Amino acid sequence: MAGMKIISVVGARPNFMKIAPFIRAVEAQNAAAADSTRTIEHVLVHTGQHYDDNMSRAFFKALDIPEADVNLGIGSGSHAEQVGHTMIAFEKLLRKERPDWVVVVGDVNATCACSITAKKEHVRLAHIEAGLRSGDMRMPEEVNRLVTDRLSDLLFTPDRLSGDNLRQEGVPEEKIRFVGNIMIDTLEAQRSKAADLQVTEIVTRNRLEEQGQAAPLRSDGPFALLTLHRPSNVDDPSILSAIVQFLTEELAVEMPLLWTVHPRTAKQLKAFGLWDKVVAAPGVVTLQPLGYHELLRLNMEAALVLTDSGGLQEECCVLGTPCLTLRWNTERPVTLREQGGASVLVGNDVQRIRAACREMLQRGRMPSRPELWDGMTAPRIVEALVSVM
Ligand code: UD1
Repeated sequence: MAGMKIISVVGARPNFMKIAPFIRAVEAQNAAAADSTRTIEHVLVHTGQHYDDNMSRAFFKALDIPEADVNLGIGSGSHAEQVGHTMIAFEKLLRKERPDWVVVVGDVNATCACSITAKKEHVRLAHIEAGLRSGDMRMPEEVNRLVTDRLSDLLFTPDRLSGDNLRQEGVPEEKIRFVGNIMIDTLEAQRSKAADLQVTEIVTRNRLEEQGQAAPLRSDGPFALLTLHRPSNVDDPSILSAIVQFLTEELAVEMPLLWTVHPRTAKQLKAFGLWDKVVAAPGVVTLQPLGYHELLRLNMEAALVLTDSGGLQEECCVLGTPCLTLRWNTERPVTLREQGGASVLVGNDVQRIRAACREMLQRGRMPSRPELWDGMTAPRIVEALVSVM
């Protein structure tokens, strides 16, 4: 019989690159364990928050994540619907499985829902990527982070600033473990495979069918890469249309703009009557959501990244890609230029975005590696869990 039973939870795209190294580290622990009392029985649960093939299954395949043992099939809905349905289904599962620990990652609705359920079922809870704070309570992820961290028994932090945030909130020292950034385990494990891909092939393979005017990408010229999906950028028509105007009429005139379009953003662009403008712009190349290696490859090569994703901000930091973060705040200050990173906050103000584009293009690539972003975070986490068996 195993020494401990762990249920780990994923729900949405940014969770998958965080769970892959954890699973690998559990397997390594089991292979090296001297006797069965040091082994871990692991059950992987997918809540089903993301369900499109290119938002979910493709990542399992690319990152060699075994098929989830259980899929709760929650799907889309309002926040209350997603959290409520997840809690109901996860409670049933916990009563059946009775694990020693629930491990959650990141800050999506699945993270929060399963944390609350675990504590109500008196199961110990560990949070990977604890202590991040944007201070912005209008951001759904901030609510998820606060709830999850308040309930967690072990809090695995990616950087020292996150540990400080937790201490300020009164979290006892013995619950906080500074382990580094688990996303970077995946980046380091996968970067050589990504480097083998051809940028032009990635673009050809993933171009959206509606794409009309855009010229084919030259294999050697500079390009900008864009991802956008936060409600604060895509749910308000005046904000989204100002961004689209800048992108189509200014940035994409200077260099090709590769835009990997999130399903939420595609829906909003169509609802606000902006979709035709985007696909008709000669310099804009619209792409479907990309696979892990494909996006990493484009990031390695891009002259500039514009994004509202936290994970991409972190990857830009390590790769050194100049990054304009289209937000007014960040829960990842360690990635900012003033901390040695590659990113600047530009919100959604076009004047700021325009000025930062010029400045960052001149600055060029400057890789930086925050402390313990060394590709060995997952083994540190598993070691900590085994030590409290
Ligand atoms: C979620 C996370 C966010 C993360 C993002 C990455 C929360 C609160 N938000 O936001 O932190 O950065 O994932 O993608 O958990 N949709 C599909 N197919 C899918 C998934 C979604 O078409 O497989 C569409 C649906 O119309 C859905 C919308 O996208 O309503 C939004 O999906 P949802 O899971 O609610 O949030 P995201 O915006 O993806």
